[in-house]
Amino acid sequence: MMSSSAALVLALGLILVNFTGHCHGALQVGFYRGKCRLLVDVESVVATVVKAKLIMDPTITPALLRMQFHDCFVNGCDASILLDGRASEKTAPPNLSVRGYDVIDAAKAALESICPGVVSCADIIAMATRDAVSLSGGGRYNVETGRKDGFVSLATNVNLPGPDIPVAQSVATFAKKGLNATDMVYLLGGHTVGIAHCSFFQDRLYNYKNTGKPDPNMDPSLLVSLRRICPMNSARDNTVNLDQDPASSLRVDNSFYKQIMMRRGILQIDQDLATNSLTKATVAKIATGDDFNAKFGEAMVKMGRVQVLTGNQGEIRKSCRAVNKR
Ligand code: HEM
Repeated sequence: MMSSSAALVLALGLILVNFTGHCHGALQVGFYRGKCRLLVDVESVVATVVKAKLIMDPTITPALLRMQFHDCFVNGCDASILLDGRASEKTAPPNLSVRGYDVIDAAKAALESICPGVVSCADIIAMATRDAVSLSGGGRYNVETGRKDGFVSLATNVNLPGPDIPVAQSVATFAKKGLNATDMVYLLGGHTVGIAHCSFFQDRLYNYKNTGKPDPNMDPSLLVSLRRICPMNSARDNTVNLDQDPASSLRVDNSFYKQIMMRRGILQIDQDLATNSLTKATVAKIATGDDFNAKFGEAMVKMGRVQVLTGNQGEIRKSCRAVNKR
């Protein structure tokens, strides 16, 4: 039996945790504190790996951002995207250009060598993405941890939004994941870094909505340069930067919003954010304000809560690419 004073202390503790906002369900900032050989700082082990990888390849930041989105939106943030297999999620068409698996493998190997079976792959994705974002000019947000890894990964479950999704439909898709329209606009700011293949926006250059003409809402000089990179019947699927400010295409900042306000968005959904009545006010606010970094971090934390497995659910994988043998 717990004494009444002990119960009071426990209750106060729980209230405090809630008020400080550090706890969300079973997720919590600093979940691994004291759990890896007592004194090992799990987050700095991950950060060291990410830093070393990023020096060699700055495109790891977009790779990880997209990986976290594609993981969280399919079966929740449970590292299901990492599982290898003939028909696992990573084999589904929208995931074929997802990269960065080697970064997660390296962080997992480093952690397993120090404290095996403690840190989940789902948390490694969240921590590594946060580190990459902050090392690429973004804000350093407090990442929540305590996720478990899932057992299921099926390509047939992959139902991610395509680049031509109408804004209202995208808002509805994000709402199903507990994310509102403002969260969505900030999260699409992930497109402030990285690339898109011509095949995802080719229609805008030559045959917008079957008109036989280009998208009238595209800056004419952007149209000229994109047509050069993405010729009409090319056998090659080239790539262009999602953020068309060349000084900022690998920096996590608000320049993406400035670009879409100048009709220089690459994907249809990106451009539509700047004109649709549901989202344009938020876009204008972000483009002219300076709170993108903090708010993007908050939205990433919120996305990291989608359908997580915690407590006795799921497992801590030994390898991020396979479920443990049972
Ligand atoms: C309606 C929602 C979204 C749609 C339709 C969408 C669509 C796309 C498409 C078509 C690409 C190009 C992929 C390629 O050519 O290989 C892309 C790239 C990317 N997306 Fe999204 N996306 C969405 C939301 C997000 C979110 C929420 C994030 C992260 C917070 C994100 C981060 C990225 C990044 C960083 C890239 C570049 C990847 C790289 O360089 O390898 N996207 N997205």
